[in-house]
Amino acid sequence: MKKMTQAFQKVAAIRGMNDVLPGDGARWEQFESIVREWLRGYGYRNVRTPVLEHTRLFARGIGEVTDIVEKEMYTFTDALNGDSLTMRPEMTAGVVRASIEHNLLYDRPQRVYSIGPVFRHERPQRGRYRQFHQIDVEALGFAGPDVDAELIVMLARLWKRLGLTDVRLELNSLGQPAERAAHRAALIEHLERHRDILDEDGQRRLYSNPLRVLDTKNPAMQAMADSAPRLFDFLGDESRAHFDGLCQLLADAGIEYRLNPRLVRGLDYYNLTVFEWVTDRLGAQGTVCGGGRYDGLIELLGGKPAPAVGFAIGMERLLDLWEQSVPPAPTPECEVYVVHQGEAAQRLAARVGEQLRDAGLSVIVHAGSSGFKSQFKRADASGARVAVILGSDEVAAGTASVKFLRADAAGEAAQQQVALDRLADVLKSKG
Ligand code: HAM
Repeated sequence: MKKMTQAFQKVAAIRGMNDVLPGDGARWEQFESIVREWLRGYGYRNVRTPVLEHTRLFARGIGEVTDIVEKEMYTFTDALNGDSLTMRPEMTAGVVRASIEHNLLYDRPQRVYSIGPVFRHERPQRGRYRQFHQIDVEALGFAGPDVDAELIVMLARLWKRLGLTDVRLELNSLGQPAERAAHRAALIEHLERHRDILDEDGQRRLYSNPLRVLDTKNPAMQAMADSAPRLFDFLGDESRAHFDGLCQLLADAGIEYRLNPRLVRGLDYYNLTVFEWVTDRLGAQGTVCGGGRYDGLIELLGGKPAPAVGFAIGMERLLDLWEQSVPPAPTPECEVYVVHQGEAAQRLAARVGEQLRDAGLSVIVHAGSSGFKSQFKRADASGARVAVILGSDEVAAGTASVKFLRADAAGEAAQQQVALDRLADVLKSKG
């Protein structure tokens, strides 16, 4: 009996979730290896926490009345046990949960980092995706402005290492909870006086999150936001000392910044220092990195009170910026491409390939058995600098023909015969 197969409708990726294809993969890897080396230079160690966490971790950690928790989380009920689970919309809450669960801070502070995907249900546009990647860096258990400064200086070093010049630092202090409470009361009074011009979000947040009302993009509310009482004016001596200490250290390091009293960040856990690095070269989504101090979060999530500070870099945005500043050079698929003709040569090719890899070369052995001409085309397209040719003559003589494919790598006679036991040395010594 003939089985009917229904035509399958092609499946596309989910909107706002991108594939990284081979042409770009090399750039991502290059970027990640620069980043890992940079982090090692400051003693940061890698941690990896699950992509899925209990929803209440983020509700509590990031704050119930934030855009992220109110409308951007991918949350679902685990069909097996009814738990509410969420795809992490950021990494700080998960890293802090892990540090509490495993008592990481019991004998000393910790410098940790994590790289990976995070998920936010936002409206996709350039630089704003629903799955994106962060380099998340957290200094857990450090109280002083020296660590805040170290993190910022460290970022400036990364921009320099990548050859980026168009990134600026914006800085603010959010003070301590009591200072924020006093400011909040004054702010609510101010907002109440301008109630008639508040938009829907503004009305809704007037009492629940008045600070965020100032973060509005609504032009009709700008003047009201500009004349609002400033948190900075409510800071006590200690908060000011922390901020002054940071500014002094940044001045010592020659780092410029703009004090931006409106910088409040979209997550509720911050206190004292907050900062963002921004650029004009990415259109509307110009923030490549954001972070700050979150001295209350560890306790809020059930841990022994300990201060902390950190940041996250948006990898897609930073890669976009890097590509504009330093256009990527094409990355070859391999150094050596082995072409072959005939069954004996094909078997030899597999062995030669392994022998060359033993010597540390990157090698593609042509798969299948097509004509020399099409194999050479592939060799050329691979970007390899040299082709190794194996045919029946070479098999009989125990040699390989070597052909340098790039004029600059060669200066060599077009093709030469090399004994198989000398092949790796010859290939490595030439270019
Ligand atoms: P965040 O500001 O929400 O902070 O995100 C950090 C960075 O992630 C942003 O500056 C931006 O570059 C990138 N980003 C955010 N949303 C998107 C998106 N939809 N598409 C592409 N990139 C995006 C945090 O997540 C905090 N956990 C940072 C932190 C760590 N604070 C202390 N420690």
